[in-house]
Amino acid sequence: MADIFDKCIRFKRQSQIVSAADRAVAESTLFRQAPVCNAGPWIDCSGRRVLQFSTNDYLGLAGHPEVHRAAQEAVARYGINFPMGARPLTGNTALHEELEQQIADFKGTESAIVFCNGALAMMGALAALAEPRDLIILDRYAHASLVCGARISGARLRFFRHNDLDDLRKVLREAPPEQARMVVVDGVYSMQGDMAPLPEISDLCRHYGARFIVDDAHGTGVCGANGRGTAEHFGVEDRVDLHLGTFSKALATIGGFAAGNRDVLAYLRFTAPTLLFTKAMPACVVAATMAALKILRGEPERRLRLWRNRKLLQDGLTAAGYDIGSTQTPITPVQGNGTDAVYLGKALYQDFSIWANAVLYPAVPVGTSILRVIPTANHTQEDVAMLVDAMAALRRDHGAEVHGVAAAES
Ligand SMILES: Cc1ncc(COP(=O)(O)O)c(C=O)c1O
Repeated sequence: MADIFDKCIRFKRQSQIVSAADRAVAESTLFRQAPVCNAGPWIDCSGRRVLQFSTNDYLGLAGHPEVHRAAQEAVARYGINFPMGARPLTGNTALHEELEQQIADFKGTESAIVFCNGALAMMGALAALAEPRDLIILDRYAHASLVCGARISGARLRFFRHNDLDDLRKVLREAPPEQARMVVVDGVYSMQGDMAPLPEISDLCRHYGARFIVDDAHGTGVCGANGRGTAEHFGVEDRVDLHLGTFSKALATIGGFAAGNRDVLAYLRFTAPTLLFTKAMPACVVAATMAALKILRGEPERRLRLWRNRKLLQDGLTAAGYDIGSTQTPITPVQGNGTDAVYLGKALYQDFSIWANAVLYPAVPVGTSILRVIPTANHTQEDVAMLVDAMAALRRDHGAEVHGVAAAES
């Protein structure tokens, strides 16, 4: 008789992640222990001073004393575990409502809800908004949490080719007119670093009567003159029907949000399973997030430093012969085949004490890998130059043979 656990044994045996030869390399990369260290660009790895380009701490707020102080004061006052309950019961405090008000104000929407993390915001919103008779249309590269929420909803799912407007138009045109539909995209794609063409997608949504939902996990704090995100960058904030986001990137805490129309948010408050059936965000995280949001809004120079570093880094890597794909944001994916990026990451660490993450399947297609390099506002120009020089030296000394990373020209 079939055993529901059979798949676990099959998974253990198969070498589907990468080719058999590279499997050991992949296994020593995924889920390896990260050093317990500070959050800054310079970290202490068991006594070794290491320069890191591996977090989404875009604005450099993870180590900010004001953010730490807000959390510490809240812990001193309430402990780490307050409130001890789910939002509809004992978990709804004035602090939570204040943060929600601040998010709505920041995003320029009528209302907002805070979830315990970003993935729960994405899942809960889609799971609650769509029903089995509805249609959810997702970009092929939409974040896994969106796909998960879409599946939980039981709605019909269709995917369009990544950022392909013709394909999206075709999917919309084919949808039965009586079927309520929504189009769901990431504002910035977390592995590619490119943006969704929000103005064109919102035009299509209007034309074909679809609601438009944007997960701006990587755009919030990073894109737009005021850091309000990808929709601000494109000038289409009021054409997005529901803004989703996370606190775990530019805001450097943990949590997520949905922001939009009052009625929709009121509905989500009573129906999103990932809000209703889980303990509320701890007050210390709420306090830290409010402190981080205040800095995000009050110190636009952080965003300018981030984008300056992005340009230095991406110009430098391209000049050194690396292919960084089609990124439009600080996310810098150095393209590789097989496990190239793992070798490159190891060489950077061993020879230059620089840490950048290699990313493998399932985050990128089977048979490819990327070295995902992310500058922050706290890196100095010298830090960025150090990385570019190290990468250029690796390429010069070893070339594509050793590290296998495809040159832009090859
Ligand atoms: C596009 C996108 N959406 C959602 C999430 C989930 O956010 P969180 O880590 O806060 O759960 C992430 C995080 O990796 C992401 O990149």
